[in-house]
Amino acid sequence: MVVMSLVACRPAPTKPYEHPPPPISVEISTVTGSDPHSYARPDLVVVRHMGLHWTVSFEEQRLAGSAVLWVERHDPEAPLRLDSRDLEIDTIETSTLGENGRDGPMRLADGSDRAWAEASWSRGARDPILGEALEISLPPGADLVRVRYRTVPQATGLQWLLPEQTADGTDPFLYSQSQAIHARSWIPCQDSPGVRVTYDAVVRVPPSEASADRVALMSAQRRDPAGPPGETRFDMPQPVPAYLMALAVGRVEFEPLGDRSGVWAEPSMRARAAAEFADTERMMAAAESLYGPYRWERYDVLVLPPAFPFGGMENPRLTFVTPTILAGDRSLVSLVAHELAHSWSGNLVTNATWEDLWLNEGFTVYIERRIVEALYGVARAEMEAVLGRQDLAEALADLPEPGDARLHVDLRGRDPDEGLSDVAYEKGALFLRELEHAYGRDVFDPFLRRWFDQHAFTSVDSQRFEAFLQAELVQRVQPRAGGPAARPQAWIYERGIPKGAPQPRSDAFVRVDERLRALGQGIGLRPSDTEGWTPHQWLHLLRGLPAGLPADALVQLDQTFSLTDSGNYEILAQWLEVGVLRGYAPVDARLERFLRTVGRRKFLMPLYRALLQAGRREDAVRIYGQARAGYHPITQHSLDLLLEK
Ligand code: BES
Ligand code: ZN
Repeated sequence: MVVMSLVACRPAPTKPYEHPPPPISVEISTVTGSDPHSYARPDLVVVRHMGLHWTVSFEEQRLAGSAVLWVERHDPEAPLRLDSRDLEIDTIETSTLGENGRDGPMRLADGSDRAWAEASWSRGARDPILGEALEISLPPGADLVRVRYRTVPQATGLQWLLPEQTADGTDPFLYSQSQAIHARSWIPCQDSPGVRVTYDAVVRVPPSEASADRVALMSAQRRDPAGPPGETRFDMPQPVPAYLMALAVGRVEFEPLGDRSGVWAEPSMRARAAAEFADTERMMAAAESLYGPYRWERYDVLVLPPAFPFGGMENPRLTFVTPTILAGDRSLVSLVAHELAHSWSGNLVTNATWEDLWLNEGFTVYIERRIVEALYGVARAEMEAVLGRQDLAEALADLPEPGDARLHVDLRGRDPDEGLSDVAYEKGALFLRELEHAYGRDVFDPFLRRWFDQHAFTSVDSQRFEAFLQAELVQRVQPRAGGPAARPQAWIYERGIPKGAPQPRSDAFVRVDERLRALGQGIGLRPSDTEGWTPHQWLHLLRGLPAGLPADALVQLDQTFSLTDSGNYEILAQWLEVGVLRGYAPVDARLERFLRTVGRRKFLMPLYRALLQAGRREDAVRIYGQARAGYHPITQHSLDLLLEK
């Protein structure tokens, strides 16, 4: 894959490890190779800015409105090719903005102030994974395209929730989840992470639909002053790939956390959320001191209803999170560190295709742990690294395709949602950790910072990283004495974990291991054994319970430590899985309630799998039958595949 970008032409600086603050660049990379998950041809005609205008109807569960696309034409003969999935298109028109239209911040909104001519366009057959290609002829000189359309209620990138599916139960809720290729189900766009756009938007929530408190949010700047009642305007001046475009509408309230950060949550959750995320500003400062200025102005967190299919989503300026990380003790906030870290790895420097997801997620896990270490100390970061290493071992043991054990994966013909595993995350992070050990932090930290600075607002692939590693590290610095040499080939293109890879270790877990051995010998766990244990230590215990543990040992654990009533969702999910797999029936009621309310795929998949493994297919199918409608389309899809088998 060839990635062309303007920044790539900058001469390499002569001194490797000083880092002058770079200009905040808004250059745009153009991928000329092909993204297997997009029909777009940005090498011929590329979308640079979008004006979006929607009316939100909770009654119909639709967005209706228009997308105005400003395009740059590299081939004057070529049509504009877009991605779409299940969009109901009314009309497509073209117009000309011309040179003069480009002064100042671009605001296209609904384009009602200009003359439009009907365009000739066609739509390809529906591919079950990719959706439909949309091809629009462009008359000579045309550089604006307006698509008037509506989304369908089943749009894969939107979830429409009824009031009873929210924490407060008073209002319906809408949110989007565009990664990896769902933006096309609510915006006609070039839905490839190699294409970045700026955008402006107007979101109308008609008064008849809205209680006055219903708020519209996007991964963008809210424009001040607000528009007429029921209308919210946004500007997104930093270019982003379509998978980072996000929208949410619901009854949420704001609480500031610091000068440039805050939290949005349903009223009943707001105070809890603000307390849980109180360290956000410190996390930002820690990340900035390592990797340079935060370039997105604000960092807010939106707490979604429990149906949200992921733990978190790094929508720029506005991270979306599951409420299942509100543990009350900040023990799960590494997820915020993770989404914040994406402000560098992913949002600023983006994988050009989903085949190099590790450049987003592996880097992000590495940075997440550095932030956690800076705020909470090495011991906690190491516990999380060990848990991550366990996740990796498990992922490697049951991959759908053996080739998925590589960092660079082949996703041609495959759904990127299903190709998602912990390999990109944890093997990627382990690779960077090995480089850190090899060169030392005083060399490796500035190296990473330069990676972000030099590739800011562009998209990159594995080859680009290899070249950068070679030029900026391998050829300039000797590894530390005894340190391993850089071996990108083995990490990126070979399966599994290279021999001699770093092995995270935790003393706190060694103490847990002692208790596990005792349990194996029939010695029960007493409260005094677990004094001062962190939730991480509990997780380690539950993951490591000896195979032959007798049933009464589970009863004793539950009675002593109330695990079935745990308020920590990580511990609870792990315990429920243990309970199902080992036939400990007292978890069943809690399990059903969990499966009916929580939509986070990471929790649901192992729990439904455990039911199958325990020979309880009927229970799994029955519960799923009742819960499915409340799950997000992404979660539904994964579970349909699991339970149809
Ligand atoms: N960007 C991901 C979520 C994602 C990945 C959505 C791929 C769709 C396709 C997000 O940053 C993430 O990794 N979330 C994790 C939490 C994290 C702490 C590992 C999750 O949701 O569990
Ligand atoms: Zn991530």
